[in-house]
Amino acid sequence: MARVFSGIQPSGTLHLGNYLGALRRWVPYQDSDDTRFCIVDLHALTLDIEPAALRAQTLDTALAYLAAGLDPARAVLFVQSHVPAHAELTWLLECTASYGELARMTQFKDKAARGGSHQELVRASLLTYPVLMAADILAYRTEKVPVGDDQRQHIELARTVATRFNARYGDVFVVPDADIAPVAARIMDLQQPDRKMSKSIPSPAGRIDLTDTPDEIRRKVRRAVTDTAAEVAYDPDRKPGIANLLDILAAALDDGGSPAVLAERYASYGALKADVADAVVALLEPFQARLAAWRADAGEVHKLLAAGAAAARAEAEHTLGRAREAVGLLAPA
Ligand code: TYM
Repeated sequence: MARVFSGIQPSGTLHLGNYLGALRRWVPYQDSDDTRFCIVDLHALTLDIEPAALRAQTLDTALAYLAAGLDPARAVLFVQSHVPAHAELTWLLECTASYGELARMTQFKDKAARGGSHQELVRASLLTYPVLMAADILAYRTEKVPVGDDQRQHIELARTVATRFNARYGDVFVVPDADIAPVAARIMDLQQPDRKMSKSIPSPAGRIDLTDTPDEIRRKVRRAVTDTAAEVAYDPDRKPGIANLLDILAAALDDGGSPAVLAERYASYGALKADVADAVVALLEPFQARLAAWRADAGEVHKLLAAGAAAARAEAEHTLGRAREAVGLLAPA
């Protein structure tokens, strides 16, 4: 039984990439492993976000966890800011990580570059964010972190920091492993198949949100950018748009067919797109029905999150206490 931890930022509406790359993959771990899933609200403050939107999206993300099938009876579900130990552990780990290794992170370079010549407006937390993520993971002595491909580098940093801390101060942390799916670990934007589908890029046409109606889903898939060589083949480098649709189909059908094998079934892009749209609509229909049911019971969701936070606090404070002692902080009398 492995200790499993993962989380999603409530920085926008969840999309198909979040679902196929992460959320849906978490559900089976509840049966076999020791799981905790967190709504990482502090991370959403690294970019400017309306306070009311942050609050609403935090609850919406919790509803999505429950609608996906996460079960508070089997997994600890909680909001990151309800467990102050994450922020305190971050400080100790910032004193372990180096400026250079944070400045090299791809996601930092991308998001900071969007600040252009206004670097004074790029939040310092965008640089230190992977350390907060390391704290999330290490606080629970996590062994396995199921995520999409874009988080690989951040988990590598968590491993580096844990190893360095243990070598300097003694064995406090477990060195975690990333757990990345072989298919659909990187769903691309439908309009720009060379960029990943993302909450933080304002491109509703290229992104399938988990709350989209069947009509919206069909329209977005129909308009997905492909290429002019009308041959269906799985070739992510030469045919990124078609490869992305095949990845989505393989993950959504979940019948064991690889994207390359599925490609052989299709003689035209139109037929492929029709099947992708059907598969995504069928995948999201039961999720959306459960989402509506949970939304009608928001009072209960607040209670579940409070109970999850209480359980998480006990675990995280235990690890934090060991880390405080290891680095030499004087315990209060
Ligand atoms: P976030 O909120 O950007 O994404 C949440 C999860 O969804 C995956 N994902 C994707 N998978 C496939 N295709 C895509 N286009 C796609 N976009 C996103 C992400 O890989 C992720 O698994 N830093 C993290 C959140 C975090 C975290 C943690 C994760 C904070 N602390 C501790 C694990 C453990 C993030 O911003 O994910």
